[in-house]
Amino acid sequence: MEKRRVLITGGNKGIGLAVARAMLELGHEIVLVARDFSKCPLVGIANVTAIEYDLSNIQDLPTLAQEVGDIDILINNAGYMQPKYTYDNYPKEAKEHLMNVDLHAPVELMNLLSPYMKKQGFGRIVNTASIAGQIGHPDVWYGIAKAGLINATKIYAKLLGPNGITVNCVAPSAAQTDMQKDNDDARKAAFKAAVVTNRFAEPEEVAKAIVWLATDCPEYINGITIDINNCFYPR
Ligand SMILES: NC(=O)c1ccc[n+]([C@@H]2O[C@H](COP(=O)([O-])OP(=O)(O)OC[C@H]3O[C@@H](n4cnc5c(N)ncnc54)[C@H](OP(=O)(O)O)[C@@H]3O)[C@@H](O)[C@H]2O)c1
Repeated sequence: MEKRRVLITGGNKGIGLAVARAMLELGHEIVLVARDFSKCPLVGIANVTAIEYDLSNIQDLPTLAQEVGDIDILINNAGYMQPKYTYDNYPKEAKEHLMNVDLHAPVELMNLLSPYMKKQGFGRIVNTASIAGQIGHPDVWYGIAKAGLINATKIYAKLLGPNGITVNCVAPSAAQTDMQKDNDDARKAAFKAAVVTNRFAEPEEVAKAIVWLATDCPEYINGITIDINNCFYPR
């Protein structure tokens, strides 16, 4: 397999870290973007560049893109939720912050990093959405952002596909990562009861689908969302 340069946002932990490890095993060079690398086990390893950046800062994304350089594979993975806010008591700043990180940043990164992919006639983009974007979520803006990302996947696949670029997406249900800290015990139990194996997904299970979409997946598969939800939402 040809060596590629892969950008993984939020590659310091959780699903992103599992993707980063798998990409390194395949022999690719990786660039990680996150806010905190203090506990990231990949810092200092060959073929790894770690860039500290807060993706809620949309304005400076062009500068980030310059620092990142030419990228063959973009994994838009960084994201978070804030279920402590209800639909009728959601601070404006909290909404804007979430929409910036979970929707605007991934879309802007597609805009900023696809010109090189277009020039070389090859690129792979994988967006990390969520089942929340398909069935809704108590953190309404999280669900709305993820639904937006699924939609952006479809339109960018159409826009960039003629240039040899595929844009696909994954929509996991609950996975065993730090993100679960934000869910209370009742919600975690409800998640487990809703799937057939009564457990959360392992980050590596989600990463496998992401890595496949970004590497071995045929070019003819473009604009899709892979459901990773263990029968939570069969369709
Ligand atoms: N776990 C689940 O149940 C689940 C289910 C469906 C979808 N997802 C999606 O999967 C993706 C990865 O989440 P995860 O489960 O691996 O959770 P996680 O372990 O909490 O990782 C979240 C990642 O996003 C990064 N991030 C969050 N806010 C950021 C910001 N402002 N700037 C830069 N990076 C930021 C974090 O970096 P820092 O640590 O530096 O902030 C971290 O790398 C997210 O998009 C999430 O929505 C997760």
